[in-house]
Amino acid sequence: MSQQHLAAPADETAVATVAQHRDWWRGAVIYQVYPRSFADSNGDGMGDLEGVRARLPYLRDLGVDAVWLSPFYASPQADAGYDVADYRAVDPMFGNLLDADALIRDAHGLGLRIIVDLVPNHSSDQHEWFKRALAEGPGSPLRERYHFRPGKGKNGELPPNDWESIFGGPAWTRVTEPDGTPGEWYLHLFAPEQPDFNWEHPAVGDEFRSILRFWLDMGVDGFRIDVAHGLVKAEGLPDLGDHDQLKLLGNDVMPFFDQDGVHEVYRQWRTVLDEYAGDRIFVAEAWTPTVERTAHYVRPDELHQAFNFQYLSTDWDADELRVVIDRTLDAMRPVGAPATWVLSNHDVTRHATRFANPPGLGTQIRTEGDRALGLRRARAATLLMLALPGSAYLYQGEELGLPDVVDLPDEVRQDPAYFRGAGQDGFRDGCRVPIPWTRTGSSYGFGTGGSWLPQPANWGELSVEAQTGDPHSTLELYRAALAARREHPSLGAGESLEWLPAPDGVLSFRRGEFVCAANTTTTPVTVPSPGRVLLTSGEVTATGTETTLPADTTVWWTTA
Ligand code: GLC
Repeated sequence: MSQQHLAAPADETAVATVAQHRDWWRGAVIYQVYPRSFADSNGDGMGDLEGVRARLPYLRDLGVDAVWLSPFYASPQADAGYDVADYRAVDPMFGNLLDADALIRDAHGLGLRIIVDLVPNHSSDQHEWFKRALAEGPGSPLRERYHFRPGKGKNGELPPNDWESIFGGPAWTRVTEPDGTPGEWYLHLFAPEQPDFNWEHPAVGDEFRSILRFWLDMGVDGFRIDVAHGLVKAEGLPDLGDHDQLKLLGNDVMPFFDQDGVHEVYRQWRTVLDEYAGDRIFVAEAWTPTVERTAHYVRPDELHQAFNFQYLSTDWDADELRVVIDRTLDAMRPVGAPATWVLSNHDVTRHATRFANPPGLGTQIRTEGDRALGLRRARAATLLMLALPGSAYLYQGEELGLPDVVDLPDEVRQDPAYFRGAGQDGFRDGCRVPIPWTRTGSSYGFGTGGSWLPQPANWGELSVEAQTGDPHSTLELYRAALAARREHPSLGAGESLEWLPAPDGVLSFRRGEFVCAANTTTTPVTVPSPGRVLLTSGEVTATGTETTLPADTTVWWTTA
């Protein structure tokens, strides 16, 4: 299927070098690169793999352990690459397989691991299988690899069931058959250009195990699994009936999300991964109703990590944070998986903007709010997250304290959900604006040919160049925190913490020789100093015995 071929197999020596440290992932800090928006090497306004490769030393110096790349596969880009037409090819917009190979090798040479994004719930409607399924008409064996159904109603004019697309509108689209008549419908939980695979069909499983091997042979260190909770649908594709889908989503097991049958897929994948040397991992994007159900995905014979969306969705509130931290650790302990923590990704409003707004608004926010407040809280939230036991995920640009771009003109928007009206999250372009590297210049150093989404006028002041060397900058805060984690691996290790007594609105806990306190209130608090201040997200006043934390500030102490 693939048009591209490698000149030489991946360099096993490099893979071996990076993989010496077993269980590296348990306390790893993993940085998400959104390739469209990271760095553009050829001046076409769109980021690419060569751009990422050139910036790997920046990521090494930042101090992360691994890089997760959002999809760069051949794709018509109906959903920014989460609509894959060929799982074994790189889209020309991002480069080619040789670029991917060079990127993996270079990363390994720098001691960085590479995690690629795998999209198994759906393909692009331009995938060879789907194109043939359409062209061959009803009865085509290729249709069985997707969910094709006759419509309801007198003439099949109604969708086969009442499911709605996550992006808004019905989850079904009716096709025009080769003879020109309106025909069957196919299921797409996301955009119509993203038909859902039928995971009951053995060819689908075979194909994905083969795709896993393709990228494992290329030398990748793991996979982030897109919509990992969606592959298996309830038998018979039952209607939701009276239930309001939007209310159920995220709060309940749905006939199309978090079905128990999905775990068999991951047990099979795990056996494939375990054939490979090098301590490689799977991380699930699994939106489940509870962190306890998320833990099912990371049982010992399934995946290694799952994103903690309950944590991402929690407001800057000590009580709420403490509940979710405890629940997470309690849920992960019995299955032996590390907790993970995340504040931002390419699907949600950046946390500097979420925290700039009043609590209770969720993860999709369209107002700028109080930027200074948001940044202060974002810095404090990051230091809190990086003191928790387990693995942490960072999203490109958060180390610069970037806010979401809430005022993008409608005509530049590309998020497919935006165009489907009632969709859940049509404003995801705001967190996908290309990141600024330099104070001035075309697209602030992103590339030489502008950027696919316009950057705000003040972006240069937030650039890597502007922040480097400034001890008060957010970039230097991240660098210092990650350096401390590297120097003291115990900071990210383990599966529990010891809560310490603290005033209302303050979280305080001990992790071995470290103590962390986060003041989530709007007033300063004074607490006893447990040791020497190691790092703070804002200006604290420390005497030998007491430390005063201003509003929205986190501090790390060491007692060693
Ligand atoms: C995941 C991705 C998101 C994408 C969707 C459909 O949620 O993170 O960006 O739109 O899956 O693939």
